[in-house]
Amino acid sequence: MENTAKKVTMEELVAFCKRRGFVFASSEIYGGFAAVYDYGPYGTELAKNIRQAWWKEMVQLNPNIVGLDSSIFMSPKVWEASGHVGGFSDPLAECKKCHTRARVDHLLEDIGVFADEKMSDDQINTLLKENEGKVSCPKCGQKDFSEAKSFNLLVKSNLGNFMGDMEDPVYLRGETCQGIYINYKNVVDTARVKIPFGIAQIGKAFRNEITARQFIFRKREFEQMEMQYFVHPEAAAEAYGQWREKRWSYYVDTLGLKKENLKWHEHENLVFYAKAAWDIEYNFPFGFKELEGVHNRGDYDLTTHMENSGAQLSYRDPKTNEEYVPHVVETSVGVDRTFLAVLTDAYTVEEFEKEDGEGKKSIDSRTVLKIPKKLAPVKIAVFPLLKNKSDLVAKAKEVFAELAHLYVCEFDDNGNVGKRYRRQDEIGTPYCVTIDFDTLEDDTVTVRDRDTMTQEKVEIKSLESYFRTKLNQK
Ligand code: GAP
Repeated sequence: MENTAKKVTMEELVAFCKRRGFVFASSEIYGGFAAVYDYGPYGTELAKNIRQAWWKEMVQLNPNIVGLDSSIFMSPKVWEASGHVGGFSDPLAECKKCHTRARVDHLLEDIGVFADEKMSDDQINTLLKENEGKVSCPKCGQKDFSEAKSFNLLVKSNLGNFMGDMEDPVYLRGETCQGIYINYKNVVDTARVKIPFGIAQIGKAFRNEITARQFIFRKREFEQMEMQYFVHPEAAAEAYGQWREKRWSYYVDTLGLKKENLKWHEHENLVFYAKAAWDIEYNFPFGFKELEGVHNRGDYDLTTHMENSGAQLSYRDPKTNEEYVPHVVETSVGVDRTFLAVLTDAYTVEEFEKEDGEGKKSIDSRTVLKIPKKLAPVKIAVFPLLKNKSDLVAKAKEVFAELAHLYVCEFDDNGNVGKRYRRQDEIGTPYCVTIDFDTLEDDTVTVRDRDTMTQEKVEIKSLESYFRTKLNQK
């Protein structure tokens, strides 16, 4: 089998996601809605498996990490105290010809000049001036921009405001971790946790991203998986190093991403809450970009919420009686970016030799999603060899009903078996089970493996233990 080893392009991935029901553009029948996407049937399964893998890694396997599910809406005081109302912004400039607004750091990046959203307006405007006449408008191509200004990313809502104005807005959360800080005391008081301990949460976050680009990489409504690890101030540096190592091995060992597609990036300009920030970057079809941020947030968050709310958020060590404000190590990754990284890594076009009934060999090719089994949207596909043979169909339905109690399965009787294999390969189904005429005689089925394309006979009564071994969810 020869892997053509060509890196998948963004166009191929977007077309694949639409064609096979992984991702749809939101509100497509109304012409779409920028930077918002919907997960289709297979995408929903994949996203669910990504959440499960993260939850298992962070909560289930760590006795000192507990879960939380806080609301999307919080008091607007939370966002004022956290610094997001004042300081959570991207640099925006307007094209003087067509009035398109664009992120200046991205425009500079496009011409090879390093810039990021954490730079001050002055720093960004200096760079913009130095590159005058080089930076072009993404819409009309003109090279003349207004001065850059900071544009706040928080999304406003009128929830609970019946006056019809937006004078006292509330905000949709811009990051999920604020829900963790404001529940920190509730968890300490109720969950019998002792420092060091973590609180993990998965949930939607919203940002008014200026540039809607790169598919699900940068969405305005997206989903974060965040864990905040509370430690003694003197233990923060060590915990930070440990979490960086653990998160790296999660991507390599647990999600099976190719090592060469991952790298570390240290932030030079730190966001307002961070003492140190490293990103794990993934080699997406458009190059290496942030997949996960691992941040040392110091005592910034608990201190600011303590000062602004008046609540007592310090911690008293039950053994030493020492009282202190814990420091926080944060790991933060998007479901959507993990989804895109997993698909980029797994999408494979390969050539293989096949033989017809008379022994004649020829070269064929297939698209196969070599996704880790635990992430595959469908684990087992069940086929009756022929759709018009009622005994085969009835037996296949029996097998399907048994396996569907244990795994996400798909029943397929459309087209010939070869075509069904291709369809399942494309969505990454690890095993296909075919019920044929032998089944009616000896109660065996043919199990075909996605990666090796080999087939073996298995007794129906052994299928449960066979798949328990093969689909070991570890
Ligand atoms: N609590 C820290 C925080 O929110 P961040 O670097 O702004 O830090 C963390 O975001 C992660 O959330 C990113 O590494 C990325 O995986 C995901 N993320 C951020 N903005 C996103 C967006 N607009 N669309 C999709 N995912 C996003």
